Amino acid sequence: MSQRRKFLQTSLAGALAVLWQRKSLAAVVKEKQQGTKDPVVISTWDFGKAANAEAWKILVAGGDVIDALEKGAHVPEADPNNQTVGYGGFPDRDGKVTLDACIMDGALNCGSVAALEHIMHPISVAKLVMQKTPHVMLVGEGALQFALANGFKKQNLLTPASEKAWKEWLKTSKYEPVINIENKAWQGDKKKLPGGPYNHDTIGLLGIDSTGKMGGACTTSGAAWKMRGRVGDSPIIGAGLYVDGEVGAATSSGLGEEVIRTCGSHTVVELMRQGFDPEAACRKAVERIVNRDPERAKKLQVGFLALDKAGNYGAFAIHKGFTYSVKNGREEKVLEAKSYFS
Ligand code: GLY
Repeated sequence: MSQRRKFLQTSLAGALAVLWQRKSLAAVVKEKQQGTKDPVVISTWDFGKAANAEAWKILVAGGDVIDALEKGAHVPEADPNNQTVGYGGFPDRDGKVTLDACIMDGALNCGSVAALEHIMHPISVAKLVMQKTPHVMLVGEGALQFALANGFKKQNLLTPASEKAWKEWLKTSKYEPVINIENKAWQGDKKKLPGGPYNHDTIGLLGIDSTGKMGGACTTSGAAWKMRGRVGDSPIIGAGLYVDGEVGAATSSGLGEEVIRTCGSHTVVELMRQGFDPEAACRKAVERIVNRDPERAKKLQVGFLALDKAGNYGAFAIHKGFTYSVKNGREEKVLEAKSYFS
């Protein structure tokens, strides 16, 4: 064999080896970010049940977890009676509805929008930020500009009911978060409350599709009567949502400031990485908030929800009343999380 031929053969074998190695490396990464092949979707609060049902239609048909969670999040975002997410959400103290949302998959791809106005489905804008831009987060005017450039339509998100509640709140203008107010509102107790303040919260959805890919989505109108420009935990990767396909996913609901300062959802995922099961990991993250200031913690609510890559789930909250919804091939149910204070 000529030297030249030998050289070409060796080079070809080398190139094929490199290609094979690349492929196997990609396969290893993919494998690492995949969990169980049994689809599952879980979400915060009892109103998550309807969102799960929508997500499930895609999951059960073999669809992608990110598409499924996006569709699930659309349910509360479009519901004018849900005054803590999307259309009909309570406005800030200036009467403007401003929305926060983010989305993430198990390979750490993520997108986020904050303080977005006039767009009913911020979760879909966040998804496009993830898929179409080199960035993770767009805020305010820039986020709106990006949404409009991508075909989203401007809408008035302030419903008469939320405007009325805001005007009522203006009479005292007192900002005082009320524990689990979102849940009470959903259960129809809202009329028993004074003109305000009504408060949180957020829907966070976590899921695994039939390929084992993990994902998460989080969307909210944030704290009612917040200062203009205030951004909560929900659009912040690591605070309101975190997903790592090697371990699992977590999301939060409640007073966002407390979740931001403890990097709450990231903390939960890292605790699962250390071997804590989902409920224990959520409990430890709650304890960090409580231990910082136990007296203060008596007056505020935060709940964490987690899913590991095997499909095990769990939740924990500072106070009673934090509910979450679960849907998989065997069950569809609403559960109440255990809490630090009973
Ligand atoms: N957890 C939602 C917020 O604080 O805005």
